[in-house]
Amino acid sequence: METRPGSGAGVPEAPPVAELHEVSRIYRMGSSEVHALDRFSFTFREGEYWTIMGSSGSGKSTLLNILGCIDRPTHGSYRVCGQEMTELDDDELSELRGRYIGFIFQSFNLIPQLNVLENILVPVMYLDHPPEDAVERAVRLAGRVGLGDRLDHRPAQLSGGQQQRVAIARSLINEPGLLLADEATGNLDSKTAEEILGLFDELHAEGKTILLVTHEPSIGERAPNCLRLKDGRIHEIRRGADHRPWPEAETLETPT
Ligand SMILES: Nc1ncnc2c1ncn2[C@@H]1O[C@H](COP(=O)(O)OP(=O)(O)OP(=O)(O)O)[C@@H](O)[C@H]1O
Ligand SMILES: [Mg+2]
Repeated sequence: METRPGSGAGVPEAPPVAELHEVSRIYRMGSSEVHALDRFSFTFREGEYWTIMGSSGSGKSTLLNILGCIDRPTHGSYRVCGQEMTELDDDELSELRGRYIGFIFQSFNLIPQLNVLENILVPVMYLDHPPEDAVERAVRLAGRVGLGDRLDHRPAQLSGGQQQRVAIARSLINEPGLLLADEATGNLDSKTAEEILGLFDELHAEGKTILLVTHEPSIGERAPNCLRLKDGRIHEIRRGADHRPWPEAETLETPT
């Protein structure tokens, strides 16, 4: 096992789940270029729970989309669950995404024509070798997120919080190594958001690796680790015991 420089001799580190090296994502708009991610390097490790913060346009969604293999870097290398994604073709990438990554979106992204059970099963359909017990697993996950009695409901027949619970169950169906959430509570009232965050806490306690993009300082503070972006680069890193509320961090940063 590697040890983290400066963390004290012999402190073991969990294995890497997502390793980004000099990753850039450049959008070309006519003659201008937007460097949404700018030579971004970082390693997220097994069992870690990170919130990703930063002002609008700082590159949070761009980062998450690359982490989730929804988008490809313009330059750089990204290894996820041991595989270099930049070397894969679209079909291989889709298989990798289905097998290793769970993605939860702000707007839930459920399929309106499918019921709860069918929505939870969607990622299974992208696998070359679907697990035989997928339906049992989906039923179990629906129960886990409190929707065991709603299996036949379509998304339009569910509340926002319930829809996001379906999306969380869907993200877990293939037992992914990496769980990504982009503003997962952004469309929910504060009580429902708290319930969803409670689910993430439970998943973290079970050892899942979770990366959660948020605008909300109170959400940023509750995860053990925070990464703050600015202009497509890392602006601040707060790990474990070092973690302090953002206002204090901003005070510390103020130039004297
Ligand atoms: N498809 C695109 N084409 C061109 N530019 C884009 C595209 N997507 C994002 N950008 C630009 O890349 C930069 C980063 O965008 P990104 O969506 O990653 O920001 P964000 O931190 O998620 O912001 P928000 O908090 O508003 O969701 C922004 O300047 C944005 O305008
Ligand atoms: Mg965004």
